Amino acid sequence: MNTPKAYINQHKDRFINELLEILKIPSVSADKAFQKDIIAMSELVKTALENAGCTQVEICETPGNPIVYGEKIIDPKLPTVLVYGHYDVQPADPIDLWDSPPFEPVIKKTEIHPEGAIFARGACDDKGQFYMHVKALEYMTANNALPCNVKFMIEGEEEVGSNSLSWFVKRNQEKLANDVILISDTGMISNTQPSITTGLRGLSYVEVEVTGPNRDLHSGLYGGAVANPINVLTKMIASLHDENNHITIPGFYDNVEELSLEERAEMAKAPFSLEAYKKALDVAAVYGEKGYTTNERNAIRPTLDVNGIWGGYTGEGAKTVIASKAYAKISMRLVPNQDWHEITDLFKTHFESIAPKGVTVKVTPHHGGQGYVTPIDNIGYRAASKAYQDAFDVTPIPQRSGGSIPIVALFEQELKSKTILMGFGLDSDAIHSPNEHFGIFNYLKGIETIPLFFKYFTEMSK
Ligand code: BES
Ligand code: MN
Ligand code: MN
Repeated sequence: MNTPKAYINQHKDRFINELLEILKIPSVSADKAFQKDIIAMSELVKTALENAGCTQVEICETPGNPIVYGEKIIDPKLPTVLVYGHYDVQPADPIDLWDSPPFEPVIKKTEIHPEGAIFARGACDDKGQFYMHVKALEYMTANNALPCNVKFMIEGEEEVGSNSLSWFVKRNQEKLANDVILISDTGMISNTQPSITTGLRGLSYVEVEVTGPNRDLHSGLYGGAVANPINVLTKMIASLHDENNHITIPGFYDNVEELSLEERAEMAKAPFSLEAYKKALDVAAVYGEKGYTTNERNAIRPTLDVNGIWGGYTGEGAKTVIASKAYAKISMRLVPNQDWHEITDLFKTHFESIAPKGVTVKVTPHHGGQGYVTPIDNIGYRAASKAYQDAFDVTPIPQRSGGSIPIVALFEQELKSKTILMGFGLDSDAIHSPNEHFGIFNYLKGIETIPLFFKYFTEMSK
């Protein structure tokens, strides 16, 4: 029997080439223009799962994008690992800022990835990461090393809120029954210091519209005499934080879980350089809520950010105009115990209440989800920890992430099982940004680590 390392060495060129192929498909879920690519991608995932050794593979139709389901059940008495991932990707915009086309993957060396990294939209989030599981399954089936049952569920709507997956999970509890859910869709501290993500933030995403006069007006004839929706909107948005960068929405912090000083001290032990952080982003200073460190601000504290704002004239040259309408998209990242529906309501009530006379305000909720915390005293975490320890020769650190995978809380609610977040990306991999990439080292290391998780999880389940 080959070890994962030996098998990966023999097959690594093919493993890389297969990933390059799936990265060529622009399976963007946010834009219906890519619908045929979503379908093509789901078919490719199906074939990949069949080739890797799943015996039952199906494309499950939903009200939205299809979900690819596959399984290999070797003995119903053995534990079952459910692997989740997503084959959809974020839009590639702004395309001009990419050094190479987003759907023509290339391998380039970087300072952080001296062995090379694959540059393409979805390389890290999440095609490269879910495909590690497909290749890990290939290793295990080809080498008689699959110690338990495995189910795969790869969806195509994660980047737009996983609506169809919620629908699917609620209707397929039995089919999806498992002992642990395993996801690679997060990151780790660095290639020499692995970490296991133990928390995800929740999310509430809203769009706001401020309407003033019934038509666009000449800014000389009317300016100063009527409410300018853009002036008003920016003022309203500015008032959502106070001078300490606390969020001013009444009730917003009511259910926020406060970490003890011990827990915060434990968090602060993770290696982190503020200087390197600022340098990597080319900023002179960090910014955020008073009383919290950078790592606390982006993991255990809730936030409110404008993601986009528009209105009026933004074309070339100058046009003197007071627009009738102004818009913004706003996301709130939430921490455990904050309910996203409740926060969305609080936002709406508050935002409507601060609108001055002379404008009307419309708040439209988009999507959202609950945060999640994984306990570290269960066999899932211990098996993951041992797997990283073996593969990296370093003990991984538990770390909460600032990102969101809303479906994880729903998995717990509907399937009653814990999720283990074994991510292999790095924060510097530019997910959602131009020039997204995924290290070759990370990809291959992931394929090596995953079978170890299966092995230890099965052993510890006995
Ligand atoms: N994989 C990310 C989430 C992530 C990345 C978590 C890195 C932790 C570390 C996921 O694809 C994502 O982008 N989620 C969205 C939320 C979703 C509802 C659009 C996010 O976090 O913005
Ligand atoms: Mn993702
Ligand atoms: Mn994403």
